[in-house]
Amino acid sequence: MCGIMGYVGPSEACPILLDGLARLEYRGYDSAGVATIQKNGTLELRRAAGKLTNLRRMLGEAPLSGHIGIGHTRWATHGRPSAENAHPHKAGPVAVIHNGIVENYLDLRTELLSRGHQLSSETDTELIAHLVEEHLKAGRAFGEAVRETVQRLRGSFSIVVMSETSPGMLIAAKTATPLVLGIGEGENFIASDIPAILAHTRNAIVLEDGELAEIGADSVRLMRFDGTAVERAPRRIEWDAVAVTKGGFRHYLRKEINEQPQAWIDTLAGRADPGSPRVNFEMDLLPKGGPAVIGRIVMVSAGASWITSQVGKFVIEDLAGIPVEVDYSSEYRYRRPPIDERTMMIAVSQSGETADTLAAMEEGARRGAHLLAITNTVDSSIARKANAQLYTRCGPEISVTTTKCFLTQLESSYLFAIHLAAKMGRLKDADAEQMLRPMFAIPGQVKAILKLEPQIQQIARKFATAHDFLFLGRGINYPIALEGALKLKEISYIHAEGYSAGEMKHGPIALIDEKLPVVVLIPNDDLFEKTLSNLREVQSRNGRIIAVTDRATDELKAIAHEIIEVPATSRRLTPVLMTVPLQLLAYHIAAERGTDVDQPRNLAKAVTVE
Ligand code: G6P
Repeated sequence: MCGIMGYVGPSEACPILLDGLARLEYRGYDSAGVATIQKNGTLELRRAAGKLTNLRRMLGEAPLSGHIGIGHTRWATHGRPSAENAHPHKAGPVAVIHNGIVENYLDLRTELLSRGHQLSSETDTELIAHLVEEHLKAGRAFGEAVRETVQRLRGSFSIVVMSETSPGMLIAAKTATPLVLGIGEGENFIASDIPAILAHTRNAIVLEDGELAEIGADSVRLMRFDGTAVERAPRRIEWDAVAVTKGGFRHYLRKEINEQPQAWIDTLAGRADPGSPRVNFEMDLLPKGGPAVIGRIVMVSAGASWITSQVGKFVIEDLAGIPVEVDYSSEYRYRRPPIDERTMMIAVSQSGETADTLAAMEEGARRGAHLLAITNTVDSSIARKANAQLYTRCGPEISVTTTKCFLTQLESSYLFAIHLAAKMGRLKDADAEQMLRPMFAIPGQVKAILKLEPQIQQIARKFATAHDFLFLGRGINYPIALEGALKLKEISYIHAEGYSAGEMKHGPIALIDEKLPVVVLIPNDDLFEKTLSNLREVQSRNGRIIAVTDRATDELKAIAHEIIEVPATSRRLTPVLMTVPLQLLAYHIAAERGTDVDQPRNLAKAVTVE
């Protein structure tokens, strides 16, 4: 989940590296560093603990020149976040940046120490630099030295290597985490994600696992680790570069919340049309034998994607009647779950790179399951591992906590459930059309909720000093209570719990007093009255109720201290409209408390370690 950026060409490398890193900083940010080969031919590095601003300051005092360089933002795995452990790592003429983990770290470390190498960090990355250095000393060409080194490494990694001995060339190699080559005119780029290169070029080559690239200013040579040449033409990236900047908003998070109406439209486009009962995907998402061969569905995911999977379970079981199991991908494969050819596994992941989810899919694939990926990242590892892909199309999401990806994951599972139920003959055309119809109103309704921002901001001000929050929901909105709590704790650092409103009396009720804000999702559905009864239990213990509803009855108004009114939609789509006020509430509470909204401490956008 670290950020990687490399440049070779006629321009000064450092500003390009820093700009690229700034666009990747959301991936991990406990330290950062750059290295260039100076005009006098020597390789030099600058590294600083903390955010990129620290590195910028350092470079202001001690600049680096040169037309080739590598840069890195780190999220610690081996070794504390410190300047010594920051990348790049150097051994003799070689510098390396790395994302991922070298699993045979201990063996290699012992081996290198026994051969007299002096190691100056606690990282696995430094070992890579030393191995390359050894091969160079043994007379190998630079490309050969890196190729032989990567063959010694076990684990998942992507690396970029630079050496004084070949001052015009970068070498990139990967086994798992992504690397994208940006092809310019007389200059080339390498990065761990597309936003880092978009300001310079739209022509990109995505490296496959087990591939290595020799990158000069005018040339790129691809090969497998065994040396076999690979030919692959660049692909044009259609993303708008503006889509990866803040576009006038103070935070990416707020910008991304506001982008949700458009993200919804983009994810729906071409898949459903007003007045039509059909859902068309770009490919067949079901196994070859169709729905008849699906015995059950397993959804594997992590974090907020696990929450949307819970909503997905609700809708799929409801419409298609197929049993759906949802599991944290980090738990799934360690509990020897029953999987066979009648299992359809749906991996839900915004980034498409979450290591745990990928591992769960590997287990599924090994045991014959049909794999569907619901992801936002085209060509990501999870997309490529799956037999079929349903892409959410919300564009790059930079803020670490998810908003528009979350909403379009809900949208995608809803579309998938209708599609599946229709294929099974469980939905008449008229019913399918009726279920799809409210989807077209969602963008306008989300815009209407965004207009409630001043009211939500006021509520946020009132409650920003609370120490704990409780979020309650029932049925299909129970997962959204979990999301409200997750969002708030992630960005404001306030402890928050999400609970089923009906389950509250079995524990959390003990926490309720006049200081505890209780956010309740209470849509106008068959559980309205039940939830109201739960609220009375909160009221009689003096809890402070913030209700989100599309049915502000007098009774509810009498019980709740604050009411946020959202537009009405169909029962199964209420989670979508309930989510948006909770995003705004979390955002404004965090902004009020002055936390780092876009890059909350300890979190990373994509977690590529298990
Ligand atoms: C990290 C992110 C979360 C995300 C989770 C799963 O923890 O901070 O926002 O929900 O990973 O990521 P995925 O990309 O698989 O959805």
